[in-house]
Amino acid sequence: MKPGHPCDLPSAVTPAPCTIVIFGASGDLTSRKLIPALFSLHLQGKLPEPVTIVGCARSPLSDNQFREQLFARLPPGTKGLEKWPDFAASLHYQPVTYDRQSFLKLAAYLGELDHAQGTGGNRIFDLAVPPGLYPVIAELLGESGLSRETGLAEGWARIIVEKPFGRDLPTAIALNAVLHEHFREEQIFRIDHYLAKETVQNTLIFRFANSIFEPLWNRHHIEYVGIIAAEELGLGSRAGYYEDAGVLRDMFQNHLMQLLVLTAMEPPARFDSQSVQDEKTKVMRSLRDFGAKDGSRLHLGQYGPGHINGLPVPGYRDEPGVRQGSTTPTFALMELFIDNWRWQDVPFYLVSGKRLPRKQTRIIIQFREVPHRLFRDVLGDTIGANRLTIETFPEEAIRLSFQTKNPGTSICLRAMDMDFVYHEHYQSATLDAYARVLLDCMAGDHMLFWRQDGIEQSWAFLTPVLELCEECRFREQHLQFYPAGTWGPEQTRPIVSRMAAE
Ligand code: BG6
Repeated sequence: MKPGHPCDLPSAVTPAPCTIVIFGASGDLTSRKLIPALFSLHLQGKLPEPVTIVGCARSPLSDNQFREQLFARLPPGTKGLEKWPDFAASLHYQPVTYDRQSFLKLAAYLGELDHAQGTGGNRIFDLAVPPGLYPVIAELLGESGLSRETGLAEGWARIIVEKPFGRDLPTAIALNAVLHEHFREEQIFRIDHYLAKETVQNTLIFRFANSIFEPLWNRHHIEYVGIIAAEELGLGSRAGYYEDAGVLRDMFQNHLMQLLVLTAMEPPARFDSQSVQDEKTKVMRSLRDFGAKDGSRLHLGQYGPGHINGLPVPGYRDEPGVRQGSTTPTFALMELFIDNWRWQDVPFYLVSGKRLPRKQTRIIIQFREVPHRLFRDVLGDTIGANRLTIETFPEEAIRLSFQTKNPGTSICLRAMDMDFVYHEHYQSATLDAYARVLLDCMAGDHMLFWRQDGIEQSWAFLTPVLELCEECRFREQHLQFYPAGTWGPEQTRPIVSRMAAE
């Protein structure tokens, strides 16, 4: 970017002073993601002035003990530690026991802090707690007057809800209903950290700020769309959550569905949250009912023992906390169709799995082959079709592959890539996904969050699939095992390794 470009100028919008209240302050999410994200915003001078961060959990801690605990848990390699004391001064702690009494106490405490710090009664409540507590906290915030934007609290009140948002359609509807008893939709921010990834956002810009791709972005030119989120990591210590969730709830209902709708949506009339969300919801409504009782469009797998980076790793059933003989899938491949004019009969292959050979997240637009194979006589049938890859991990990049003539006297074709690699062109520090969503919530911008109808549509599509998969007979017949460190079950390995090919 040339110096003096408008993108180089500091953002004109600085969020208003506020208090960020984190429930679940002694948990993993707080120390691994939220505090490092807020600290990085502090280092970049992007936090509002003043800002107060209040940790809430059951254990009794003083402000100082809380600060020390967070400092000790900062991820290795955290930069700018000399600035930690400045940041730590904005950290406070208030114990809560998730009952009315302790929330009234919290309300009084926040009132005093507002007064002392000048944060104007603006508050964000971040629910970094197990999902069972979401409705409990929403009720208590309502009953103690903390959700109100007038009355007890004078500024704005916003609530951030982490995933999983429900475990199926009825539970998502019930959770939305509880939230709406106390918060208006504009006060609710449902996080999907994939939406805050730079290349994911760039998908929209790439599609709608360039005129050459959109005419090709349809069933006439595209053979299939592949979306893959492969992970090298296994379950770790998350059995309590994952045994119930499995890969479909953990990755498909949220992250992969978002990548799908961003790839497939129509151009919105305006680039604002409402118009973008409307178009996204339309795609979800157009998903063809899955209804594949034979299971031919859904492949489920679970990793067995194997090797990652040459080291032996245990199988899923041997991970701590996993039920004996568990049939929870850790891998899935789904073939979806979108019933509209643009996408009729173009397959969308969605793949995600744990303990695959490497971490790789990308969207593949596979174009159709040339209609007339001019070079068939010389080359046989081997001309590869064009492919566009939007890569999120390991590199943020966009790649277009096309055929070229190999230099020399004979006609020989070779596929070449035209590459745009983010970090080679943009030197400025990119924001971590969590930092981005927290900042947007402070600014009241909903673009990178799920709206109620979107989340319900996504569950409406997936719930029958989940019900089908949870039938014991289906799982017994369809769950395939794969050694850790391979590209999933044998049957789907060719297509998955093609999608992941470097
Ligand atoms: C989380 C899932 O939402 O996303 C995890 O719960 C998964 O199981 C993670 O590992 C992947 O996120 P990322 O940003 O590392 O691709």
